[in-house]
Amino acid sequence: MIYRIQIFAFIVTLSIIFLCLGQTGEKSLVELKSDWKFINKDNLEFARPDYNDANWKSIRVDKTWDKQGYSRNEGFGWYRIKVVIPSSLKENAFLKDSLIFHLGKIDDFDQVFLNGFLIGENCKNVHSGSKPSNAFKNLENSYWNEERNYSLSVNDPRIKWDQENVLAIRVYNWGGPGGVYSGDLYISMPDISKYLELEIKPGIFTTHKQMINKKILLKNKASKYTIDGTLEVTVKNNITGNKLFTKNYSLHIKPKKQMEIAFDFPETKQSTTIKYEVNFDKGIRSIKYKEGVPYILTPPKKPQPQINYPRVYGERVGKPFLFRIPASGKRPMKFSAQGLPTGLTLDTETGIISGKVMQKGTYDVKITAQNELGKDQKTLRIVIGDQIALTPPMGWNSWNVWGLSVTQDRVYAAAKAFVEKGLADHGWSYVNIDDGWEIYGESKEPKRKPNGEIRTNKKFPDMKKLGDDIHALGLKFGIYSSPGPLTCGGYTASYGHEFQDAQTFAKWGVDFLKYDLCSYRKMMKDMHSVDELIPPYQKMNKALQKVNRDIVYSLCEYGLGKVWEWGAKVGGNLWRTTGDIWDSWDRMASIGFNQEQAAPYAGPGHWNDPDMLVVGWVGWGENLHYTKLTPDEQYTHISLWALLSAPLLIGCDLQRLDDFTLNLLTNDEVLAIDQDPLGKQAIPVIKDGDIQVYKKELADGCIAMGIFNLGKSTTKYTLNLRKIGIEQKCKIRDLWRQQDLGIFGATFTTIIPEHGVTLVKIFKTK
Ligand code: GLA
Repeated sequence: MIYRIQIFAFIVTLSIIFLCLGQTGEKSLVELKSDWKFINKDNLEFARPDYNDANWKSIRVDKTWDKQGYSRNEGFGWYRIKVVIPSSLKENAFLKDSLIFHLGKIDDFDQVFLNGFLIGENCKNVHSGSKPSNAFKNLENSYWNEERNYSLSVNDPRIKWDQENVLAIRVYNWGGPGGVYSGDLYISMPDISKYLELEIKPGIFTTHKQMINKKILLKNKASKYTIDGTLEVTVKNNITGNKLFTKNYSLHIKPKKQMEIAFDFPETKQSTTIKYEVNFDKGIRSIKYKEGVPYILTPPKKPQPQINYPRVYGERVGKPFLFRIPASGKRPMKFSAQGLPTGLTLDTETGIISGKVMQKGTYDVKITAQNELGKDQKTLRIVIGDQIALTPPMGWNSWNVWGLSVTQDRVYAAAKAFVEKGLADHGWSYVNIDDGWEIYGESKEPKRKPNGEIRTNKKFPDMKKLGDDIHALGLKFGIYSSPGPLTCGGYTASYGHEFQDAQTFAKWGVDFLKYDLCSYRKMMKDMHSVDELIPPYQKMNKALQKVNRDIVYSLCEYGLGKVWEWGAKVGGNLWRTTGDIWDSWDRMASIGFNQEQAAPYAGPGHWNDPDMLVVGWVGWGENLHYTKLTPDEQYTHISLWALLSAPLLIGCDLQRLDDFTLNLLTNDEVLAIDQDPLGKQAIPVIKDGDIQVYKKELADGCIAMGIFNLGKSTTKYTLNLRKIGIEQKCKIRDLWRQQDLGIFGATFTTIIPEHGVTLVKIFKTK
């Protein structure tokens, strides 16, 4: 799953399959949660019902096979289970036409056999008589994140009613975790709820006069059944517990028809959840779904000038210097600078500083930004020395949004959005292309020019122009490659051409290189071996040192060989500490809350990278969806990444930036925590049940603190300030609201919603 991420649907339609809850007394399903057997080999004989699997090992299906002692490498695995399918299933069923095998998620590809016959492959049913072919594993996109539900007609002779059946799953993993892993596997007959589709469009609300409006659609997909039932909608403020809205709708939806439901409730500026519950007649599982309502905490931006972060920036002697002063406020604005080192000039209209400095030194430059409403003055520290990336890089990367369908236009659109939507005024500066700009490895086209120079594919007609255009906006330009012959997406990479590629990148004006291990793993004996991991990264480091510009060096090898211990030695400015992130609470939280062992290695010039942000419209391909993190989970995501001094790389469509996401990404007091020049990564200082308290020391002597609620319900928590080393009275400020909360003595009490955070700055008083 490291390699690619499956395309998600544009509209999140909530299928009954994974949302049904509650059960009735009648036997309505056959559980397949345990008794599976496994082998990590491949042989089509394994599908045969009479195959003797006595020597196979037991395996769990609620976690991938690599978590059970098998390899994460590319390869096959087979699962088998023997199961009796009782005919009472069909007798008790509401709809008596088909039988469904719910097999959960499978990483990456699968073929499913019932009693030796292929019944499904990669999320699709197959025709009876289909023969398995090896092509099932040679696809562009992995299905690792998709539910497998295969159905057969009840009359299908392949089903042996009231007898033992053998179900076999052939899995092919193309790298990273592999196997059957989501746990809830069962066989059932469909009921009427199968035909009901709730189209909720998470994240989409309209607000009018402090009332929030939500519309949902209930669609009956059946061609002959009418859906009767009720829908209960409840909207609750999670902090006060107050119900803001509750209503029962009765449903009578004719075949192929739909019903729209719209409702309003008051805006609270606090954590709020909408719960939907559809109930049918007795005996049918109900559908439950909940969504968070976006609530903006960041105060509206002032029209007066405000100089934001970062306020320290480094470049090496004689290398092209480019820095756009991050300043918010009404345009036009006039900039001036006092104390700029020789060789740099400031464009007074745009606030872009450029040039070349030939003298090492630390220069405290007094920057003034002025508009018709006022002015702001701050010190920008320019350090011309040996280090770059003095604060964690902030920018955008194409992967989490466009995946391999990235284009030159899409990258430039992101750069333009940084300026037009004001993100550049809050320090967002790197615009990075991820995988997918090179020539595809299996294409017949030449991958390189006759002189060996790497070629771009036709989606990137002019890389040099793209670099120039991005620089003209005062922004930085990033690119991606791999030390192996191919990238993770199967495109041409730098193996054997490291020095030449570094020169080409420099010629294009590249300021940032993400160097992703990918296919190089196949050339290693042991991909965890530090001795084998260092040379390819060292080689590219040497190549980058030789070019005529500074290139931030981002190591991407998923944390293998404890990269934090040696990443700086091979010139890394940032290094991924984990596998890929995606927009689920479990994934984001399991990455974010497990960064402790790498913490001591972060600091100016070299950062731990827990992967890119998953807020806004994401998709890893053409079809985007709104992040599946709730608003509270998103506050946690950004707060935690800021406390961790993590590189902040937005991975969403900036053309489609909703107000909530924009505000989440432009809160300067929160961003200041990430960009703090001391560069100390927060560590958890208290773990108390579901509560975790993270503490980060700041350059000004203050403390940033995040109190996170990892639990599933709102919690009131009282923090003993002594326990985190605060002995005297202190002033506490809420960073998301940008509000002082008061002076506190021994304790601080806060109410935190499910998966939410209270993020504060603590000022010690004398
Ligand atoms: C790996 C990386 C991702 C992304 C893809 C591109 O999975 O970890 O961040 O760069 O490759 O193929």
